[in-house]
Amino acid sequence: MEFSEVVRTRRMTRSFAKTPVPREILRNCVDLASRAPSAGKTQGWSLLVLEGDKTQQFWDATLPVKRRATFAWPHLLDAPVIALPFADPDAYATRYSQPDKAKSDLGEIGKWPTPYWTIDTSFAIMTFLHATHDAGLAALFFAVFGGADELRLALGVPQSMQLLGAIATGYAGPPSKKGVSATQPRRKPDEIIKWNQW
Ligand SMILES: Cc1cc2nc3c(=O)[nH]c(=O)nc-3n(C[C@H](O)[C@H](O)[C@H](O)COP(=O)(O)O)c2cc1C
Repeated sequence: MEFSEVVRTRRMTRSFAKTPVPREILRNCVDLASRAPSAGKTQGWSLLVLEGDKTQQFWDATLPVKRRATFAWPHLLDAPVIALPFADPDAYATRYSQPDKAKSDLGEIGKWPTPYWTIDTSFAIMTFLHATHDAGLAALFFAVFGGADELRLALGVPQSMQLLGAIATGYAGPPSKKGVSATQPRRKPDEIIKWNQW
């Protein structure tokens, strides 16, 4: 696909087939995501990939069984892959303590005016979403509200790592209800751009 087609046709998908995704496809998507820009080329992110039955651990922690009967997107739980993107603030403190960055005085996380670790991880997630779409996969980035602590404990995630959300991916399943936000109109460039002055 041409880049503009990838961008124009990507949509969040909330219904998946159970068909497994070969690791090589996921590895290629991560390879593309690893080309996203990052401050000081720190690349302070990791992707914890749950495959097949292992995704159950995610759902058990984040979506209590009693809520599933009324859950709007039952085939979301069929996604054969749940990928959890984590940002690593400490990697930035370490990188910016190195000689070429020492002048920045950003060797401590508390000194950062903007959390570049969440920015960089978000850039990588977006690149990953485009890569999955280009590879013929469907995907949904979604928030993890409840159960994150239980999940982290079950999966042995270090305390310092910051979970940004979850990505369900796999091959598209049966048509599902649209997301509630789908009716929001897309803002046009001239609504977004302030030419030369606010
Ligand atoms: C930071 C972020 C959080 C989101 N959280 C959820 C979520 O919790 N559940 C969900 O169904 N979709 C979630 N979405 C998907 C958005 O609803 C979706 O991207 C938006 O409606 C535009 O649709 P499109 O991406 O298909 O164009 C999230 C997207 C982003 C960027």
